[in-house]
Amino acid sequence: MRVGVLTGGGDCPGLNAVIRAVVRKGVQEYGYEFVGYREGWRGPLENLTMDLTRETVRGILPRGGTILKSSRTNPFKLERGVERIEENLSKDGVDALIAIGGEDTLGVATKLADLGVNVVGVPKTIDNDLSGTDFTFGFDTAVSIAVEAIDRLHTTAESHQRVLVVEVMGRHAGWIALHAGIAGGAAAVLIPEHPFDIDEVCGWVQSRFADGFAPIIVVSEGAVPAVGGGMTLQSLETDAFGHVRLGGIGDRLAEEIEERTGKESRVVVLGHVQRGGTPTVYDRWLATRFGLHAIQAVADGEFGVMVAQHGTQIVRVPLLEGTRELKLVSREEYEEARVFFG
Ligand code: F6P
Repeated sequence: MRVGVLTGGGDCPGLNAVIRAVVRKGVQEYGYEFVGYREGWRGPLENLTMDLTRETVRGILPRGGTILKSSRTNPFKLERGVERIEENLSKDGVDALIAIGGEDTLGVATKLADLGVNVVGVPKTIDNDLSGTDFTFGFDTAVSIAVEAIDRLHTTAESHQRVLVVEVMGRHAGWIALHAGIAGGAAAVLIPEHPFDIDEVCGWVQSRFADGFAPIIVVSEGAVPAVGGGMTLQSLETDAFGHVRLGGIGDRLAEEIEERTGKESRVVVLGHVQRGGTPTVYDRWLATRFGLHAIQAVADGEFGVMVAQHGTQIVRVPLLEGTRELKLVSREEYEEARVFFG
């Protein structure tokens, strides 16, 4: 059996741990051969391959990024995209494909599975917004990086009695902001799911100063004010999956807070720092288990599925279930955090 492996979409700490687990178990327990497809769906489209063997996956467990590289290529947007993928898989003698990605990469995997390609999906995204699984790997690392930054920002904010606005990733879902904000003792957490009222935010800022502390405001890049506009964009250009590039809400917010409260306000945009570097212990563990279960699904001949974490178990769910809708922060979960605001 020859198994193809690819990583698509935004990179995320733990991708290499999945690749290693897939290859180690596949080679050692089943004697499979592997084809590494480079740069997401561009790999099988343009036949960009690399060797994946026990030797090439040695030492990659703690490494961030992906040895396979990644891209946001969408074969359904390209002429004969799907046919070219099918032809290349067949030319390479690939019987099954493991696609590691988020909503977009797994969305493509879902459509290919419907067309008869033997695909198993592995969910990844630092945003943790895939509905079929409790957690995706990469999220814990991103939150840990954000919390470390917030911890450091508290002391400098207090020394200067400034407001510090920390902009974190999270296009549609506020999980990173919510977890990092609670763990970091933020004065407010603003997320895409629940538009914020700027007067209320300024009230929280004033009350944190009145208590003798300096407020840290954690904001997701996709957060929106209740009044006065939609998401803040860095560019109107869209990628192959129709996503615009977000960014700038932190600046907007800091300016507005300074103007309304008279308190000096600065912004820190964590950006891709949240996606870089070594995965946490939890992410290495989750990514490794996802990899082991993905190759097991291949061995069991179960395709069109995605591995997922349900409680402490790793299970298989239909790919469609994992990608159908995004997992968002509910009103109740957000309300829980509000006791700490201000
Ligand atoms: O989907 C993961 C993510 O990190 C989002 O939080 C963010 O909006 C997006 O990717 C950024 O993508 P890129 O690195 O392509 O700009």
